[in-house]
Amino acid sequence: PILAGVAGWPVTYSLSPVIHSTWAHRANINGYYIPIAIEPTEDDFRAVIAGLRKVGFAGINVTKPHKENALRIADDASGTAKSAGAANMLTFREDHIYADNSDVVGFANAVKDHTDQPGDHGVILGAGGAARGVILALKELGIQKITITNRTREKAEALAAEFGLAVVDWDKRSEVLDGADLLVNTTSLGMTGQPPLEIDLSPLKSKSVIADIVYSPLETPLLRAAKNHHTIDGLAMLMHQAVPGFEQWFRGNAKVDEDLKNILL
Ligand code: ATR
Repeated sequence: PILAGVAGWPVTYSLSPVIHSTWAHRANINGYYIPIAIEPTEDDFRAVIAGLRKVGFAGINVTKPHKENALRIADDASGTAKSAGAANMLTFREDHIYADNSDVVGFANAVKDHTDQPGDHGVILGAGGAARGVILALKELGIQKITITNRTREKAEALAAEFGLAVVDWDKRSEVLDGADLLVNTTSLGMTGQPPLEIDLSPLKSKSVIADIVYSPLETPLLRAAKNHHTIDGLAMLMHQAVPGFEQWFRGNAKVDEDLKNILL
């Protein structure tokens, strides 16, 4: 059988095994995709990866907190993974480990499910690790102007300098939506156990896209308030980021559709 999996800490609640198993079953592929808990140090990560390679794994997805470790331990990496500063895929090739980042194309494809023309102004809330991937995705979608805002302004400024973005104060997060086509929340606000994101969506264009990258809860307060817009939730992104790994390791067709989403709900 073909072996693959997802490495993280914690990893118990990951839905990736269900996604890959569903695709493997649909394509009649003999394979296993398992959760792999790796304690959060680079040494632990490196040791487990070496073991997985030895026992013949084709590759693994990588989730928190190991995405930066994955890029560091790889022998080679895609331009996207290097620019993102993180990898969510490691492919074990004959003589080397290759790192890639499918969060970027995953987010871009989740947007494309709603529109072929995402417009020219995107606003990103938050400036952590997840924001980097979203910035690259918006660039890949051809969005000309990207504005970033973050509670800690210096972190937004650092990303703005690196990627050529505009910055506004966190207090101005509603005003900056005036005429924007796309809003992405990458902060932890709205997650289970966190305070909700407070923002006024009325300045957004009516056909705009609103995305929240978390999937616990699936319908965040932001997405609930966004009913008149196109919405992208964390499950849409999770399903789309899984496609490249499945295609590379299991060599089968990976389709994101309502049936798959219903299995995950
Ligand atoms: P990730 O890797 O998922 O992006 P992270 O790097 O911890 O996670 O980033 C969390 C983001 O949520 C940051 O942008 C953080 O803002 P700061 O840079 O100011 O810390 C944002 N965030 C977390 N709690 C917040 C809150 N109560 N209000 C506003 N922003 C918050």
